[in-house]
Amino acid sequence: MTQHLENSAVTQPPAAEPRLRADDVTLAYDKRVISENLSVDVPDGSFTVIVGPNACGKSTLLRALSRLLRPAAGSVVLDGKAISSYGAKETAKIVGLLPQSSIAPDGITVVDLVARGRYPHQGLIRQWSSADEAAVENAMEVTNVAALRNRLVDELSGGQRQRVWAAMALAQQTPILLLDEPTTFLDIAHQIDLLNLFEDLNQAGNTLIAVLHDLNQAARYATNMIAMKGGHVLAHGAPKDVVTADLVHEVFGLECLVVDDPATGTPLVIPKARVRSAP
Ligand SMILES: Nc1ncnc2c1ncn2[C@@H]1O[C@H](COP(=O)(O)OP(=O)(O)OP(=O)(O)O)[C@@H](O)[C@H]1O
Ligand SMILES: [Mg+2]
Repeated sequence: MTQHLENSAVTQPPAAEPRLRADDVTLAYDKRVISENLSVDVPDGSFTVIVGPNACGKSTLLRALSRLLRPAAGSVVLDGKAISSYGAKETAKIVGLLPQSSIAPDGITVVDLVARGRYPHQGLIRQWSSADEAAVENAMEVTNVAALRNRLVDELSGGQRQRVWAAMALAQQTPILLLDEPTTFLDIAHQIDLLNLFEDLNQAGNTLIAVLHDLNQAARYATNMIAMKGGHVLAHGAPKDVVTADLVHEVFGLECLVVDDPATGTPLVIPKARVRSAP
């Protein structure tokens, strides 16, 4: 059942408190308020996908959930404590973020960038270990960048670079992983490869939160969807309940048909053809 906010108290059964949630937060850049009174639960073990139009506040929410942006009011709660009370490194052992865009340090190689994902696990005493080595090698293997290991990140194609950043996030080995448009620059086969990899990670017990623009992929992979508009959550729940023609119209202003995806049975959004006037 769609969990529209107004009836969520009725339709949502009481659940154990999730490890990560935003509790009545106001998110703002200086005086520019993006979201007000925003509450979002990230169910443990879910593959939660956030969809919504450009500039509606998706990346801003992920920044808050990863402690990069401190809410102006309310709090992001991780394991029962305000995330602001954790140190950066302490947070980064639990919550990883693949940002929407990142700039690599000048002259860094692929393997060195991926190894930076292990930084939260290093300490004054604990030095580079075989576990770090294995995490880096595995992350490069599964994202298909091992062959690029000694190339400069600056000199890669957009899609190759995106897979290297994904490898860095995976090398961090956090139980909760936030992914901001992880597939944007990838060709269709690499998109599906990476989404399958995330699905495997999710099935292995990790909690994933991804922003995706492709509604059909979102509906295929998500176990839980959040539709945002203008800084608010308009609907959340199972993909079949969130991805409806009415909601797509409400959120994106797009007329569409929603049919069953012939391959998976999940909702498939087909934009309506425009009616052209005769020449
Ligand atoms: N660093 C910043 N300083 C000021 N305003 C910002 C900053 N980053 C984002 N914004 C503004 O906040 C609003 C939400 O931006 P956000 O990046 O969260 O959108 P989004 O939903 O991720 O969009 P997209 O789909 O284009 O990535 C936008 O109006 C944007 O201009
Ligand atoms: Mg964004």
